[in-house]
Amino acid sequence: MAALLRVENLSKSFGGLAALRELSFEVEQGSIVGLIGPNGAGKTTAFNLISGTVRPSAGRVWFRDVDITGGPPSRVVGLGLARTFQHTSIYPAASVRDNVYRGAIARLGTSMLDQLRGGSRTREGLARIDAQVDEVLELMGLAAHRDSLAGALSYGQQKRLGVAIGLATRPTLLLLDEPAAGLNPEESAEFGRLLRELRGRLGLTMLLVEHHMALVMDLCERIVVLVQGARIAEDTPAAIARDPAVIEAYLGAEEDDHARG
Ligand SMILES: Nc1ncnc2c1ncn2[C@@H]1O[C@H](COP(=O)(O)OP(=O)(O)OP(=O)(O)O)[C@@H](O)[C@H]1O
Ligand SMILES: [Mg+2]
Repeated sequence: MAALLRVENLSKSFGGLAALRELSFEVEQGSIVGLIGPNGAGKTTAFNLISGTVRPSAGRVWFRDVDITGGPPSRVVGLGLARTFQHTSIYPAASVRDNVYRGAIARLGTSMLDQLRGGSRTREGLARIDAQVDEVLELMGLAAHRDSLAGALSYGQQKRLGVAIGLATRPTLLLLDEPAAGLNPEESAEFGRLLRELRGRLGLTMLLVEHHMALVMDLCERIVVLVQGARIAEDTPAAIARDPAVIEAYLGAEEDDHARG
């Protein structure tokens, strides 16, 4: 069977800077694939291109054998591909429930919204969204906080809310951009258990960008390594961990970081 997501020779330049260079990889249905690399490697750019928020300079993206290159994002979401954002996209002054609700509504696209507003199915449609929102809050362990202001949640709960917003459209494939950033090792491990549970309960396929290596190694079946926009390795976690090119890239990046600061 063809892969759920196929990325072919995807490239993006910003002015003279090649942020992504001919990136190719596949994500099989039901799998969790990691996308890792030092800061500035092009991971978020890859997510922007796949989800249709940024147009690639070259290359193609296929989701369920549909060419989704260049979006638009509403079409991509409608096909079942959602993403979370590296820098939180929550509304602190709205309730937890309303944040997830907005996620569900905002991504339905205008034609669907018009149907909901005007048609006789209005109540039915809204009731379905309500049920979906409640289910997602339950899954993410936020049901007890549904009426709290999002801004009043702990940092860890806000990270879970970010995933809940991504799940609100009930995607087949979820792109997660550093969902565990800023969590301590125990919280990060707990987050990993939650993501694994989501896969089991929802049959969700995931593409995970994360700097917490223990989490990536534990969760992913395959890992793609990006350095300066180019794929330098793709393999199982065990093989990636002992790949000399990967070790060198990470040690080099760490030395640069130490040199900078
Ligand atoms: N809109 C943009 N305009 C110009 N340059 C950009 C833009 N977006 C990203 N870049 C550049 O592209 C490169 C890749 O950035 P990107 O955010 O994809 O990296 P990343 O792997 O997600 O890094 P991090 O781990 O720090 O999140 C960087 O050099 C960045 O400065
Ligand atoms: Mg990033």
